[in-house]
Amino acid sequence: MRSYSSLALVLGSLIVGCGVVAGHQNHGHGGKQIPLHEQEYVQDSVEELERKWSFEWGFSGVNSFAHLEHIKCLTTPDTPFDIGIIGVPFDTAVSYRPGARFGPRAIRAASARQTSFRGFNARAAINPYMSWAKILDCGDVPVTPFDNFVALEQMTAAYLELGYRSPLSSLTQRPKLISLGGDHSIALATLRGLNKVYGGSVAVLHFDAHLDTWHPSKYPSPWPSEQAQFNHGSMFWMASNEGLILNGSSVHAGLRTRLSGADWADYEDDDSQGFLRISSDDIDDMGPKGIIDAIMGRMGTDTPVYLSVDIDVLDPGLAPGTGTPEAGGWTSRELIRILRGIEGLNLVGADIVEVAPAYDGVGEQTALAGAQVAYEILTSMVKRGLRDMGKVAEVPGKGGKGGGKDEL
Ligand SMILES: *[C@@H]1O[C@H](CO)[C@@H](O)[C@H](O)[C@H]1NC(C)=O
Repeated sequence: MRSYSSLALVLGSLIVGCGVVAGHQNHGHGGKQIPLHEQEYVQDSVEELERKWSFEWGFSGVNSFAHLEHIKCLTTPDTPFDIGIIGVPFDTAVSYRPGARFGPRAIRAASARQTSFRGFNARAAINPYMSWAKILDCGDVPVTPFDNFVALEQMTAAYLELGYRSPLSSLTQRPKLISLGGDHSIALATLRGLNKVYGGSVAVLHFDAHLDTWHPSKYPSPWPSEQAQFNHGSMFWMASNEGLILNGSSVHAGLRTRLSGADWADYEDDDSQGFLRISSDDIDDMGPKGIIDAIMGRMGTDTPVYLSVDIDVLDPGLAPGTGTPEAGGWTSRELIRILRGIEGLNLVGADIVEVAPAYDGVGEQTALAGAQVAYEILTSMVKRGLRDMGKVAEVPGKGGKGGGKDEL
């Protein structure tokens, strides 16, 4: 504090150009002090204002993700970024509990203890907030809650608008977006956007209790509707049929859903879309390491991957704030461990969906898990850029200090 104070004094004197800068002398360390309110007011320089007031505590500040600079990226094409956090508060395509439209707000609030000054991720040996990437909180897509056809158009248009922007850094071809849902159907819009921006289909790494490759007929209704195909259990079926998902490279992880009818038809549908299925129970037999190896073996480090994390992959005891809870899920620690192990993937985009804070606990545990998942994904995206630059070793996870075993 002492050295800051004297520096400020010198700066203040230089800028004001006068020896007496009354407003800066009251630092309370010895000697007679004139109380601030009895001194003559002197306007601080911008630098001094920054020094005094720019700091944010975890609990202070307007609610952006991890206290990041908030820009409405959709209306600000002249502010380039490398990674954008974008809220997509859409939840009118759900089959059970609504409420994920409040997910972006809840995840942002739960990210409050993430700050750039204490953002060093020990497993990755980088601070994603203080590295090469310009990361912004891009605000929300203002999605209509009244018309799902229009909503899907809006979301897709938003992903195209942002996806085609030039990034700030030359390290990334296009800016990367991490979406905070919203229900899971938003992934159809992101995949449509990615397909155009990257000029081809991408693999999907899908953490979820459910398949979400369901044929729309698996949501039977005596009132047929084509619009009803767009729902949070069929968006990957739609995406596969549109050729947006790489057939044969994609993975589900954490499955434990009941299936339709009395046979394996849902799995057969899923097979025809080319997904590998890793069940929730598999973690008991394979351990997190086995799951990491299965994912990396399937996807490699070159395939463009869209990472989609439905928070209901977690056990509802740990993450109750979600729309379609299923008992018997992974712990937050297991999910985070697996995310840490797959940092070598070539991520082109990601989402964290189905956080519905109305059903969350008073300790906001679901939203906290969502915020941590976003931090791990951000870390991996930034670290991948460093690896591509040759600034970190090829082997994922090496180089972390203090964590002890970081071979995953
Ligand atoms: C995926 O590939 C399999 C095997 O080649 C094929 O039977 C299936 O129709 C393909 N699915 C889609 C959605 O293209």
